[in-house]
Amino acid sequence: MSNYYPDEIIEEIRISNDIVDVVMEYVKLERKGKDYFGLCPFHKEKTPSFSVVPTKQIFYCFGCGRGGNVIHFIMNIENLEYIEAVKMLADRAGIQLPEGDSREEKEKAFLKREITRINTEAARFFFEALNSPRGEKAREYLRKRKIKEQTVKRFGIGYAYEAWDELYKHLLAKGFNKEHIIKSGLVIPGKKGGCYDRFRDRLIFPIFDVRGNVIAFGGRVLDSSTPKYLNSPETVLYNKGKNLYALNFAKNSGEKSLLIVEGYMDVISLHQNGIINAVASLGTAMTESQGRLLKKYAEEVIISFDSDAAGQAAAMRGLDLLNDIGCNVRVLVIPDGKDPDEYVRENGAEAFRKIINNSISLIEYKIRILKKQIDTGTPEGKIKFLNKIANVLSKIDNNVEIEVYIKKLAEEYDISPESLYSEVYRRIKPKENFRKISANQENNKDNKVKLLVENEDDKLVQDERFIIAILCTDNSVYKYVRDKITVDTFTDSENRKLARVVLERLENNKGIAPGELLNIVDKKVANDFARIINKECPCDDNKKAILGKIRSIELYKLKKRQMEILELLKQKDSLTEGDVEKLGLELKSIASLIKEKKSG
Ligand code: GTP
Ligand code: MN
Repeated sequence: MSNYYPDEIIEEIRISNDIVDVVMEYVKLERKGKDYFGLCPFHKEKTPSFSVVPTKQIFYCFGCGRGGNVIHFIMNIENLEYIEAVKMLADRAGIQLPEGDSREEKEKAFLKREITRINTEAARFFFEALNSPRGEKAREYLRKRKIKEQTVKRFGIGYAYEAWDELYKHLLAKGFNKEHIIKSGLVIPGKKGGCYDRFRDRLIFPIFDVRGNVIAFGGRVLDSSTPKYLNSPETVLYNKGKNLYALNFAKNSGEKSLLIVEGYMDVISLHQNGIINAVASLGTAMTESQGRLLKKYAEEVIISFDSDAAGQAAAMRGLDLLNDIGCNVRVLVIPDGKDPDEYVRENGAEAFRKIINNSISLIEYKIRILKKQIDTGTPEGKIKFLNKIANVLSKIDNNVEIEVYIKKLAEEYDISPESLYSEVYRRIKPKENFRKISANQENNKDNKVKLLVENEDDKLVQDERFIIAILCTDNSVYKYVRDKITVDTFTDSENRKLARVVLERLENNKGIAPGELLNIVDKKVANDFARIINKECPCDDNKKAILGKIRSIELYKLKKRQMEILELLKQKDSLTEGDVEKLGLELKSIASLIKEKKSG
């Protein structure tokens, strides 16, 4: 994983990006003693359990357990692969990365540049076409939809001629190569070796990325034919699940919220009316990447969507997704099932702002939907309704909030708040270990044993990690253990990888820091180490702690071998007398070793 760049460069990048500064670009942090705390960006919470420790250069959330160094933070928050996160941080620190010598990398970078140029040229072509004599019918359409000239300019709206390959020819004439033009998605190769334009006789909406580069296009018919919209296919530049239409404008709106609507025309119409924090999800279901993007630019997300059943189900998933990654979400319900464009055109900006202010919380919205779906007039209906409500309420992580809803609902449906309480609390997710125990009880004895062994193995991995972690937080304890451990002491493959680096460094009198340790581990392992480093290291007596862990690892291994031998001896038939004798001797020596370790 880290082989891609030399370790020293990765480390230089890490050191050059102070974790507190980087995290502060995404999370509001407050200093408490020598550490910083804030609301976790990875799960929804109302009291801060997300910590950043400058001395160790790690972050860790006591609520959701995510943690790591600055590279993992960027991987998590920007949803990037390891290498991409490293690149981003190198960029931030102004560190020149060695050109990836892979030809593939270079070609991809070149292709991206070419397609950006092609898109820019095409946008210009479409815009000019709209304003040419042959663009009159498109201009007429825009007038009909009350889109002003100024808006057309701002959004770069254009027109694709009613012709087979005018854009293609234009791009060739500009010197672009056929293969690149095809890869831009603007033209489609035909059967006879020629190419034809994807967009013909359509109104064109350029799609921009956050920085304002044209990365794709959407094209709408001018009448009621189908398909209503055609969009660019995914290209090296364009991944529709990672973009939001008009975010390049909306991110500068100065508002604390972003408003998500469904269509291009909704966004354009809202912006024209001064509601410039609107973005569109481009006709796809909300993705986690889009959620993180939204979260980066807004404290709160307001969703507005069509009120048909399909729209509602899809939106509900989107809402849950946003909520899960810690966005504050509200739902904008537009009266009379209108879409935002219609509503703002008919009622004006003031009225629209009013309904934005009246957006309801996610919980309220869910309750409202359930009310619509279930007939609470019958006793069965009422029970079903309240059970579903209990499900919804049990997911709130704030007791006061739960209480408020319970009171309100109990009154409304004439039931005792206590019974609703108990239904809700019964559903609140039991803690991890509680679940393990109950799973254990439900299973048969064999599984029980297996589970125990797994837990023991897990403890071994954790003990190994503690040893590695404490060696990094306090390099000085190495002298007490140098004769007691080698890479082979470690059983877990990730741990072995790290132990190799750490032991070699310390053996050669070179230090290693906790943040650096994490450079070469993946996100999951980083969570684990961040927890250990944050919660357990340093401890009152580092020497005693590390020696204690080494002893418990040795004991564990001895006991495991003991069990193995006992298992072998059960199948005496398959053993020679000599074997049996040997195993017996080994058992004896193990027993005395165990005794020795336990007392020493
Ligand atoms: P108008 O009908 O002109 O008001 O357009 P709109 O932008 O309001 O579109 P609508 O609400 O019908 O659809 C919402 C979004 O879904 C659009 O902006 C498109 O991104 C997408 N969409 C709608 N129809 C199609 C289609 O036929 N094909 C594709 N690929 N996407 C579509
Ligand atoms: Mn519309």
